[in-house]
Amino acid sequence: MTGRAPDEVVESVSRAFERTFGNAPTGVWSAPGRVNLIGEHTDYNGGLCLPIALPQRTYAAVSRRDDGVLRMASAQQDGVVEVSLDDISPEQPGGWGAYVAGVLWALRRDGLAVDGLDVLVDSTVPLGAGLSSSAALECAVAAASSDLFDLDLLATADGRARLAARCVEAENVIAGAPTGGMDQSAALLCDDAAALLLDCRSGGSRQVPFDLDAAGYVLLVTDTRAEHALVDGQYAARREACEAAARDLGVGTLREIDPAGLETALERLGSDEVRRRVRHVVTEIERVTLAVAALESGDLVEVGRLFDASHASLRDDYEVSCEELDLATATARSGGALGARMTGGGFGGSCIAIVRASDADAVAAAIAAAFEAEGLTAPVSFTVTASGPAARDR
Ligand code: GLA
Repeated sequence: MTGRAPDEVVESVSRAFERTFGNAPTGVWSAPGRVNLIGEHTDYNGGLCLPIALPQRTYAAVSRRDDGVLRMASAQQDGVVEVSLDDISPEQPGGWGAYVAGVLWALRRDGLAVDGLDVLVDSTVPLGAGLSSSAALECAVAAASSDLFDLDLLATADGRARLAARCVEAENVIAGAPTGGMDQSAALLCDDAAALLLDCRSGGSRQVPFDLDAAGYVLLVTDTRAEHALVDGQYAARREACEAAARDLGVGTLREIDPAGLETALERLGSDEVRRRVRHVVTEIERVTLAVAALESGDLVEVGRLFDASHASLRDDYEVSCEELDLATATARSGGALGARMTGGGFGGSCIAIVRASDADAVAAAIAAAFEAEGLTAPVSFTVTASGPAARDR
């Protein structure tokens, strides 16, 4: 499903750059999409999450300029978008260019000496599938900027975390999506064959070995093709509800709520809806800790159970699932998956399931058949392995 091989994309994005801008790029950088194994809607609550980087990546062929102008083109769209760095704002440049321009805006605001760029992007991360194509784009540009302007931020985990924070600002302020930061950290910090345990309160992270192959299992991703959008009001509404609940409970974030005292905390909240939102967040953070322990002890059955519990919580308490995600996960479970859950923001997008390697094709076919029977758009399923972070390719 990655379709084109990395080398092929690096070559074609370089050629497209040359055709568009008239000279060869200085280099090509790329950053991965992600799936989150567990810990959903916890990042903006100071919680824990556990993403892996995908083999699917967004590639950026880039050269630096010295005139304060940013020119951007995409293999997926015609035309060149141009903006002066001084003019970047939530209104300008708009569209996909905001994710590129926002990164330079945020790096400048951080006091880093960056200038203009020529950028041509191409991607093997499916768009609108909830696999963080936008964070991959931001992080590929951030990686290129770090190298081209000698910021030297890719060499250390702290430097990468700083780049991730700037990419989050780009997305929040310039692109206008109030997301929490997991995706950018995943794209910059995830390692091969590992999941990233990210603590969104301390900003710290550590690698947790994640290699299902050795146990005869695979991670099956299904893009339901039900399009999700983080810039619509639902994501923001969930985030606001959590922040308001934290204020009502007198804590900085919902991370402060001890799972043992959850019921008492819930009694202090005014509405059933808010109680369910808070219960999801607090129990989901606990599930991340349990999932890490289960992965470390090789207990995939327990990881699967936690996937199922996470999905139920997102569906019933947080109310961010949808018909397609519920159908795909239920079908995966009946096909023998150890567990299945929606991944990412929800309201469409993708789900993941842990299935025996020998069952993967049959489970994917069963999901496709179930969608067809319900008259839904055909989903796209593929297996993934945990892959590496943003890097220079050429
Ligand atoms: C989206 C956001 C992330 C995170 C997830 C839900 O992917 O970009 O910051 O909040 O939703 O876990």
